[in-house]
Amino acid sequence: MKKILIITAHPSEKNLTKGIADIFLEAKESKGHNVEVVDLYKDKQLPFLEYATNSDMATLSDEQKYYQEKVTWADEIVFVYPFWWGTMPAILKNWVDSVLTMGFAAKYGDNGRPIGLLQGKSVRIFSTSGAPTFLYCLNGIRRANKKIWKQTIVEFCGMKFQGYHLFGGMDTKAKNVEKMFKCVRKIANK
Ligand SMILES: Cc1cc2nc3c(=O)[nH]c(=O)nc-3n(C[C@H](O)[C@H](O)[C@H](O)COP(=O)(O)O)c2cc1C
Repeated sequence: MKKILIITAHPSEKNLTKGIADIFLEAKESKGHNVEVVDLYKDKQLPFLEYATNSDMATLSDEQKYYQEKVTWADEIVFVYPFWWGTMPAILKNWVDSVLTMGFAAKYGDNGRPIGLLQGKSVRIFSTSGAPTFLYCLNGIRRANKKIWKQTIVEFCGMKFQGYHLFGGMDTKAKNVEKMFKCVRKIANK
């Protein structure tokens, strides 16, 4: 049995992010996994990171500790969010900045190289966009997002990258939404 943390970042009640999270939750729970969903718009609010020097960052707020405990608990972390201005919503970026802190998620070894401290965990990402996926495949933006998640966040912290799924054409075609939910169900049931 795995402990799965689903982190969503969408401001409205009726959204595709919630739909994806619900499908993933249902599929994983039906297989006996322990799943927790955190909605960053409704759960504890993290203030923007503020510090004068790097050493100030070692002092963590209660909100940072709260989310770090959830990361420590999880074997698998799933991020679900809408694609905004070519990337993740600010509330999620702030979560990454504030929760995956040095000393908790990674540290530098004596040789100056980073060592990931979240080994044994894995990460999957689902995102929905208005523009079609092929556009972001053609212009390299999908690949850039995948690379940033994989190399500068997930692997930097020592975690296993399981996949970056960008579902496009979500504002215009109902059939794209149906296809996406089918695909999410298939991934979750693997
Ligand atoms: C602030 C904001 C920025 C957005 N930026 C993009 C973008 O850069 N590219 C894109 O294809 N769609 C963009 N969109 C459209 C959303 O990605 C799209 O509406 C959403 O994924 C649909 O899912 P939802 O119904 O759950 O919100 C943006 C929407 C908002 C509100």
